[in-house]
Formats: sequence, structure tokens, C-alpha cells
Amino acid sequence: MAANPSEKKETHFYYPSEAFAQNAAIPGMNAYRALCRAAEEDYKGFWAELARENVLWRKPFTKVLNETNPPFYKWFEDGELNVSYNCLDRNLENGNADKDAVVFEADDGTVTKVTYRELHKRVCKLANGLKSLGIQKGDRVVIYMAMSVEAIVAMQACARIGAIHSVVFGGFSAPSLSERIGNAGAVAVITADRQIRGGRHLPLKAIVDDALAMNENHAVENVVIYRRTGDKIDFVEGRDHWMHELTQSQAEICEPEWVNAEHPLFILYTSGSTGNPKGALHSSGGYLLWAILTMRWTFDIKPTDVFWCTADIGWITGHTYNAYGPLAVGATIVLFEGVPTWPHAGRFWEIIDKHKVSIFYTAPTAIRSLIKASNENAQFAPEQYNLSSLRLLGSVGEPINPEAWLWFYKHIGKERCPIVDTFWQTETGGHVIAPMPGATPLVPGSCTLPLPGMFVRVVDETGQELPWGQGGILVINRPWPSMIRTVWGNDERYKTHYWPEELGGKLYQAGDGAIRDPETGYFTITGRIDDVLNVSGHALGTMEVESVLSAHPMVAEAAVVGKPDDLTGESICAFVILKNELPKGDEAKTIAADLRKWVSQEISPIARPKEIRFGENLPKTRSGKIMRRLLRVIARGEEITQDISTLENPAILEQLRNSL
Ligand code: PRX
Repeated sequence: MAANPSEKKETHFYYPSEAFAQNAAIPGMNAYRALCRAAEEDYKGFWAELARENVLWRKPFTKVLNETNPPFYKWFEDGELNVSYNCLDRNLENGNADKDAVVFEADDGTVTKVTYRELHKRVCKLANGLKSLGIQKGDRVVIYMAMSVEAIVAMQACARIGAIHSVVFGGFSAPSLSERIGNAGAVAVITADRQIRGGRHLPLKAIVDDALAMNENHAVENVVIYRRTGDKIDFVEGRDHWMHELTQSQAEICEPEWVNAEHPLFILYTSGSTGNPKGALHSSGGYLLWAILTMRWTFDIKPTDVFWCTADIGWITGHTYNAYGPLAVGATIVLFEGVPTWPHAGRFWEIIDKHKVSIFYTAPTAIRSLIKASNENAQFAPEQYNLSSLRLLGSVGEPINPEAWLWFYKHIGKERCPIVDTFWQTETGGHVIAPMPGATPLVPGSCTLPLPGMFVRVVDETGQELPWGQGGILVINRPWPSMIRTVWGNDERYKTHYWPEELGGKLYQAGDGAIRDPETGYFTITGRIDDVLNVSGHALGTMEVESVLSAHPMVAEAAVVGKPDDLTGESICAFVILKNELPKGDEAKTIAADLRKWVSQEISPIARPKEIRFGENLPKTRSGKIMRRLLRVIARGEEITQDISTLENPAILEQLRNSL
């Protein structure tokens, strides 16, 4: 892959090598354009053909897309399938039975390999175990586990019996877990005794106990516990079951529950700009189709690939590109329990070297922290490892700055591996905008062009498409198979939040701003247009953090804004007004430390404000509305140039500015 020096100066393109392009699923821009055209000309026909070719249907569908009740679209609605059958049995039938499905690298470096045959057996046994507890199709099961083969087994077992899983990231606190269990109306929780990260044993089961105790009205009747560490845990007889005991005498075959294509596969909670987290509901058929196609198109997956996506199964990336997509295409995945910097900052490169990873998919935050680590200590630099197995790199979760892109390209990909910068969201189920690695000329910092079949536009506040070169709101203007179906239990919120009236009610609003390059039409994501922050690739609602801070006994009022951060992309800056008088010096430091701990406990360490500033008041309009745009300017240390005539208390700006 070489840079093309003849291109105009400001845009420097990076092209795939001829060999890569020739063997790719989409072998050049003409092939890409042909697919886009096919979708444009016959939208339903395009999706129908792909769905027939890629998904194994028990009962073939005859209806492709039902648009009678927008935005509640239905895809392949009279088809029947089972997602776990598509991910597991398919591989037993097509010669992959003895191929490694999962290569699990534990925190301490121990490696466990699980073949498709073995994975199928374990999933069937757990599925039968769950059935023996009375768990049925449509029941909700919360999975609160760390990265482990068992977590994937748990997700697949739910899919096998038609239960709807809701994975809650293992870093979430008891109140957050409790809220999600309650909202989903879960009847069971699958967890582990503890999780191991960076050599430390951290609780999981104890947090489940706390979460259940916090909500007397929850519907959980069973808790299934995977024994990871063997540490002592409290055991509630009748409710709690060890996973190994539950599955021990179960049959190794579990006939899949054939479900309708629209049957929900999972709920995954995601932060909103207001109120509680939203339970994004995904379907079985459409979601699986896009998980498979994006593995083929964006990741150009081949039977010989070793695919490593570093995302935790608690996030959408871990769902689509660990638990479902790679298995449905018969790939071998690496699953890593630990953290990138333990026991040393060369761990990621060591794992790539050790397992001969060929496709590596990670987040810009991880890349930036490893650049820093390798600059500080050459011992952990990627040059110390053999990375020659790599052929493709991917980035996800937040914008990747050109410096980090170029470092990734040079030091990890050795100027040989294309980088797919994939823009998408929990709600989209899979990639929306990303380069096709054998086709798209790459530009650092741009996620380039929409995938075939995705109709993405940049519009103004009234929904009118803007010319290239003008920044606006990113929207998707046609329903697509892997789209969110609703917000669990709140159809109205789904409708008003994602399909805003102001834009005409027919455009899916992603929540991001974007601009297209005036010449290439390439997209650059300019950041969220709502009050959702993106810290290390994790979406967090400012309201969520504010309401937790305000619930602290010492706090009268709090406002939270995002601030650019070299490492985490964005960091949280909280402006806090205490009930008592303004704290100074050491007292302020102690209270700030307490508040950080409080947020960690109440939500998760991810939500912990990096900076806390105290003031006597917040900048407010005469009608009492907090002027967050001014707080954003103060947090960034910039000069205030905006109009402040509507501000009731201008003097407060000076105080907040000097509050560090
Ligand atoms: O703001 C965008 C950002 O992450 C948001 C979605 O977050 P979440 O639902 O947690 O899913 C993250 C993993 C898909 C988006 O609205 N985002 C995600 N990928 C990118 C990105 N921003 C810029 N470039 C990306 N590649």
C-alpha cells in the first residue's frame, strides 16, 4: 500500500495494495459503486438477495420490508430463523467443526482454545440449563460478566432458546445494573463470581446481590454464576446456581427455538442526552444479516483470518464483532480478558504476535495510550514484536485523529494494512460509514463513505440536504435491516428521539454532526450534536452524570460538559455548586475526590469527571436555564466571545474561570 504523491496537496490518499484489492470481497471502487447502485435501483431486491444468500432461514421470508407503520419498520417479517443456529450449527455442517472459534487469552496469559464443536456443545448445555429453570422465549436475561468464553456462551444460549439478553458492562455499578435489570423486567441474571483485570479480582456476583437488593420489585428468580476465580461469594439457596452444576447433566443437543425474523435478539442500554439510559432493541434476522455482511465487506474476512476485536461484550462492538458476526462467518476470534497496559504496555502487540492476529479492531483511545506508552519506554514499542501476521486494521467508537491514524498505519500496519475507520452506533447494529478495505482510498481522520445499502446524508435543521463542504446533521434516510427497532418499553421515546419531527419524521437522526469533503464526498464526523459525551469511545449522557452528582448530599447543583482530551478523546468537566459555602484549597480537593468516587460508585469509573470546578452559581439565563455553551468555553480555557446579554449573573463567569 503506498501513498500517491500525484494527488492534490491537501488530500493525501492511501491505497490498498494490488494483492489486497484483488482478493478482497469488494475488489475496487467499481465493485463498491455497483453495489451502491444496486441498492439505489431496487432497495428491497438488494436486501432480499443478500438476506437469502447470507442467512440460513428455517422458513424463507416472502416479505422484505414493511413500511406501513413508520418508524416501526419490519424486515423479512414472515421468515423464521435462529441466530445461534446460524453462528454454531452452520459451522458444524460446513467443515468448521474442529476449527477454533475462540482463542481466549486470560489476564495472566493462560490460553484456552475452543472449537466450534465444543462451543456448540457448551451453548446447548447452558441453553438446556436455562430451560430447566423455566426460562422461555421472550424472557429477558441480564448478563453481567467480563470477557470470557462463558459470556459468549451465555449470549448464544439465550439466542438459542429465544430469550432476549441484555448484557450490562461489568464496570457498571450496582445502581446502574439495578436500573437496567428493572427496566428490562429480567427474570434471570447470568454473572461470574468475580472478574480479573490487571491482576486484580473484582466483584461481579456481589454487585448483582446489591443490585437486586436495591429494587424490591424486580422479577429475577434465578442467578447463574460462572466460577471464574473461586473466591468466596454469598449464595442464595433456591435462587443462585453455579453454571457448572446447572449444565453438568444437561443434554449436549438443544433444538433451536425457531423465531420470527423480527423476534428481539437483545436489548443493549445506551446513554441518552436526557433521562435514563435507553434500551436499544435489536431484531434477530436483520441484525444478523448486517453482522455477517459487515464481516465480509468491511473486514474482508477470510477462512484463514484470526480476528481480534478488543471491545468488551458489554458494548455493541463486542456484540456484533465478537459474539455474533465473526461466528456466523466461521472465523477464529481472539478474546482478551485483561487490559492493554498490564502487566506491561506491550500486551496488545504481544497478543497479536502470539496468536498471529490478522485483523485487529480497536479504539482510538487505546491507540493513543499505547503511543504514549511506547514513546515513554521503547521496550513496549510495537517494534519489539512480530506483527507481520496483520493484514487489516480497524478503528471504532470515536473520531480517530490523523496523528493516531498515521501512527497506527506506520507502526502497527507497517504501511501495508488498510485501516477501516468505522462509524456506527449501538442503535445501528453494525457499520454505517467505513472504507471498503480493498477499494476505498483512505484519508486519515475520515471514515470515508457509507456502506452499500446505507443511505446517509448531511442535512440542516429542517431536514434539507446540505451541499458537500457544509457541516450539518448526520441522518440515515432509509430504514436498514440492522436498525434499532424501538426503545425497550418506550415506543414514544424511540419515535421522538430518533425520528425528530423537525426533520420531517422520516430521517433517522444519529445524534452526530458531519461534514462531507467538497471534492470526494468523504464524511468526517464532527462530534455529537446532543448532550452525549464520548469518553474513550463510551457514550455518556451529561444528564446522567449531573443527576448523580446532584444526588450527593453536599451538592446543590451540578452541570457537566465535555472537553477535548489527548488520551480519551473527550473528558468530563463538572461545575459543582455545594450546599455549603465555596470550598478552597485542600478542602476543595478532598470534596472533589469524594465526588469522583461517588460517580464511580453510582454509575461507573468511566463516568468519573476528570475535572471538578466549584462555584457559587452556574451561568443561567433569566428564565433559569443553564448556559452550557459558556461552561464548555470555560472548561476549554477559551475566551468567551459569545453573546452573554441573556445571562442573569455575568459575574459568575469570572469566578468559574478562576476556579482551577
Ligand atoms: O459519536 C459517534 C461515536 O460513537 C457514538 C456511538 O456510540 P456507541 O453507541 O457507544 O457505539 C460505539 C461503537 C459503535 C456515535 O454516535 N463514534 C463511533 N464510531 C465513530 C464515532 N465517531 C467518529 N468516528 C467513528 N469511527
